[in-house]
Amino acid sequence: MADDVERPGADAWVPEGAPVDELRRAAPDCRGCELWHDATQVVFSRGREGAPLMLVGEQPGDREDLEGEPFVGPAGRLLADAVDAAGIARDRVYVTNAVKHFRFRLRGKRRIHEKPSVAHIVPCRPWLEAEFEAVHPSIVVALGATAVRSVLGRTVRIGEVRGRVLPPDAAAGASALPAPVLVTTHPSALLRIEDPADRTAAFQALVDDLRAAADAVE
Ligand code: URA
Ligand code: SF4
Repeated sequence: MADDVERPGADAWVPEGAPVDELRRAAPDCRGCELWHDATQVVFSRGREGAPLMLVGEQPGDREDLEGEPFVGPAGRLLADAVDAAGIARDRVYVTNAVKHFRFRLRGKRRIHEKPSVAHIVPCRPWLEAEFEAVHPSIVVALGATAVRSVLGRTVRIGEVRGRVLPPDAAAGASALPAPVLVTTHPSALLRIEDPADRTAAFQALVDDLRAAADAVE
């Protein structure tokens, strides 16, 4: 799908130049793509303006959709553990998602997570851009492929760039970034690793990447 698919997406609902609390109040009204329709609620962000590290995930999961808070389920616990293990104080971290509504399909009564597509990532990016402006982070950490697609505005093989601090102009086109970007894996990828030694190694790699991001802005 083309990069500029369905622009402006959320633009009509994003208050210009607004602080985070105002963005949070406006987000439930967004109709920038169809995901609002089946989700329980919008899931915005957690954290304060001026937090030096902005962590961008994929989208809320089942638990996040029900609670209205990002990263409160199993992947969120892992991420919090990794932030702690990296020695980063939690109040220095602002966490958000590339897509603000939960995408799923029903299997019986179960809601099965579905990856957001470009047709959700692109329309939702105005919210992230507004967060860039309001939070003004010193570094943006993109967790996994969806976050990378949103933050950099293009598809990148994670293995090729992970752990490196990329300059703000690494983003495609007009999608200017407020800060350098560091790409790493999504914590939910760790949950799928069955071998305990492999999982520990993957967790340590995530911790190392988070520490590298924090060190880059010290
Ligand atoms: N995974 C994400 O990417 N974001 C969340 O908020 C929860 C799980
Ligand atoms: Fe708006 Fe993003 Fe929700 Fe789509 S996913 S309705 S663009 S907030």
